[in-house]
Amino acid sequence: MQVHDIAVIRGDGIGPELVDAALTVLGAVTAKGGFELNYSEVDAGADTYRRTGVACSPEDLEYLRTAVAATLKGPVGLPDVRFPDGTEAGLLGGILRIGLDAYANVRPALLLPGVTSALGGVPAGGIDYVIVRENTEGLYASRGKGVGNRWAVSDTLMTTREGTLRICRRAFELAAARGGAPGDGKHRVTCVDKSNVLRSHALFRETFFEVAADFPDIETEVLYADAAAQALVLRPGDFDVLVMENFLGDVLSDLGGATVGGISLCGSGNIGDVSAYFEPIHGSAPSIAGQGLANPIGQILAAAMMLDHLHHTAEGDLVRAAVAGALEAGDIRIRPDGSATGGPVAVAEAVAARLT
Ligand code: IPM
Ligand code: MN
Repeated sequence: MQVHDIAVIRGDGIGPELVDAALTVLGAVTAKGGFELNYSEVDAGADTYRRTGVACSPEDLEYLRTAVAATLKGPVGLPDVRFPDGTEAGLLGGILRIGLDAYANVRPALLLPGVTSALGGVPAGGIDYVIVRENTEGLYASRGKGVGNRWAVSDTLMTTREGTLRICRRAFELAAARGGAPGDGKHRVTCVDKSNVLRSHALFRETFFEVAADFPDIETEVLYADAAAQALVLRPGDFDVLVMENFLGDVLSDLGGATVGGISLCGSGNIGDVSAYFEPIHGSAPSIAGQGLANPIGQILAAAMMLDHLHHTAEGDLVRAAVAGALEAGDIRIRPDGSATGGPVAVAEAVAARLT
């Protein structure tokens, strides 16, 4: 029997209840046979920082990097827990994304059945694109320098040719894997940037075209970031894969989430050449923790992406179909604020029931 070692970071706030829900669903998948998941828990996040003085120990980071096939991570962060420089402690983004060199942040925006888009009048599947966010450089190169108030400060937007080559390659490979056919508008990579103003983004766009030359049957499109924000609202159905710098990807993936029922419904992968971890795109919402209000669908869809990464795409598809089926049948209903009726346990059971 194939066994994959998986690390689990339960996270802060609603993290543990979401991760439990995802583990219930994964349990239903593995119960079908074929492979096993062998879990080990890693203590990391804001609460870990409060208790131990580090958000993730170097040993644990090394463990995540070398000893497991993938990591399933809940959201982390507690607003009152701060590093001495004023930044929110336990935000593992910097530690894990850089530490694991997880350079591709893959963030699908898919309108599921039974979910009403804030845009109105969009059918299920009418929004189905993936933002590939560069995860290790860009404007986030300034992270770790503190957020104190001063009269004037500057941040660095770092774009390297190597970093852009690898993220663009990922985007084109993903577009190739997603299928579609030349000419149908769904076999395309859109480069989003502000290359009319920023030198760093001009390098990003130039490098994008360099990579595009290796993928002749995938269409290319370029959009300035402001125009892209508008287009993702006015014509979201036109997009397939979008690739962009770190900060733009942060902003536009929340915009995308808002159009598909809320960011609570969005999973993501942080994928490098060696390590990868999977998490929802939203935060830890400590104010609703433990009240049975959290929506675990983003976490469950992140777990499905983890199955894809482990080369169990058939099982990943089963989980996505189970989520879609439960929503379509009304077993789970999404409220306008993005929460789900029944809470995390009921949602997990409704999804798991479709997998048995
Ligand atoms: C995300 C989050 C993080 C980011 C925060 C928590 C630092 O918003 O994963 O999108 O900006 O990358
Ligand atoms: Mn974000």
